[in-house]
Amino acid sequence: MKGKRVLLGITAGIAAYKTAYLVRILKKKGADVKCIMTPASSDFISPLVLSTLSGHPVSIEFWNKKDGTWNNHVELALWADVMLIAPLTANSLSKIAHGACDNLLLATYLSMKSSTIVAPAMDLDMYAHPTTKENLSRIAKHGVTIIPAEEGELASGLHGEGRMAEPETIAAFLEDYFAKRKDPVLGNKHVLITAGPTFEAIDPVRFIGNHSSGKMGYAIANRFLYLGAKVTLISGPTNLDLEHPELKLIRVNSADEMLSEVQKEWSHADIGVFAAAVADYKPVNRSKQKIKKSENELELTLVKNPDILKWAGENKNSHQALIGFALETENVVDNAKGKLVAKNLDMIVVNTPNDENAAFGYDTNKITILDRHNNQEDFELKSKELVAVDIIEHLKKILK
Ligand code: CTP
Repeated sequence: MKGKRVLLGITAGIAAYKTAYLVRILKKKGADVKCIMTPASSDFISPLVLSTLSGHPVSIEFWNKKDGTWNNHVELALWADVMLIAPLTANSLSKIAHGACDNLLLATYLSMKSSTIVAPAMDLDMYAHPTTKENLSRIAKHGVTIIPAEEGELASGLHGEGRMAEPETIAAFLEDYFAKRKDPVLGNKHVLITAGPTFEAIDPVRFIGNHSSGKMGYAIANRFLYLGAKVTLISGPTNLDLEHPELKLIRVNSADEMLSEVQKEWSHADIGVFAAAVADYKPVNRSKQKIKKSENELELTLVKNPDILKWAGENKNSHQALIGFALETENVVDNAKGKLVAKNLDMIVVNTPNDENAAFGYDTNKITILDRHNNQEDFELKSKELVAVDIIEHLKKILK
């Protein structure tokens, strides 16, 4: 489970005390665990125990009453590779079965993009009740996976079915889930991604650069990793970081360095996604010493950088798929189609920065996708994480 991100939701049942042990097991297996609790569950286990064991703050309320900061349930849901609700009480089961949303855990469940797994825990008569059975089959139809309760001694003193599955059983279930969940098209595929800006040195302290944040390329890398692909991410200078056992992150500064890394990696890849905002030009000469401001005017001669994407298109074999980006402000579709053909691409993602909050530096983007079969898909403005999902879903259609 190395690198897998588990969002553990805890509801108010006596079995909540076992989640301390569950967090430890999951962490030992290499998972990154964040806990989210219903307010009442903190009567059964202290958030301090869970934050200490998980290494992350525990989220309970919609906002922090002391400083007013908002707990972003959408971000938590996007972070997670899986949401595991253990224990799941009859009350919370009934709420998730019917879309109630009166606490942070429920709002996060409703925002989940990836799967949810639940481990119910309740007294035997509650577990056997037709309403509970109906609610369980209802959430199963919504795609939730259920780890059945076990038979044994219950908190009421009775003996029967209703005990939460033991932490070891839950952890083994999750391990099995991750092993089987690789995407049938993209699992084990090798993806080469470029991201971020390039910096072209003028002298030892100055450079020509651009405002690319790298967020789009990193979001794409993250999504491929989630689907079970192996990713090589060649990144220009950004503030971003990404860790995953299936990720090779290569950091570069200039377009020449990026090209040289791409040339080493491209033949090993099945898919290339070139999201970097490569500087079009670089200074012909890089001054060895810092340039002094002795003159009133300074002339810099620039020369074109190599087109890295074009190189990959020219050196693409019939099994490889190549995706490029384009930033167009006019004749959007025609210009992008021209690039698709000229660079031998299978798909091109067009950013339209005319739209507010789209492309460079923003957390959101608005794209149009064109592909080699002449298909066109236009999308609404959305978070870069969700844009990554759209790009990869379109790619899957082409690969099929
Ligand atoms: N690209 C590249 N190497 C370059 C320039 C661009 O790999 N030296 C890639 C980018 O990563 C992106 C695509 O090519 O995938 C962008 O193509 P480009 O022709 O630069 O398009 P625009 O940025 O839209 O610029 P322009 O229209 O000015 O040519």
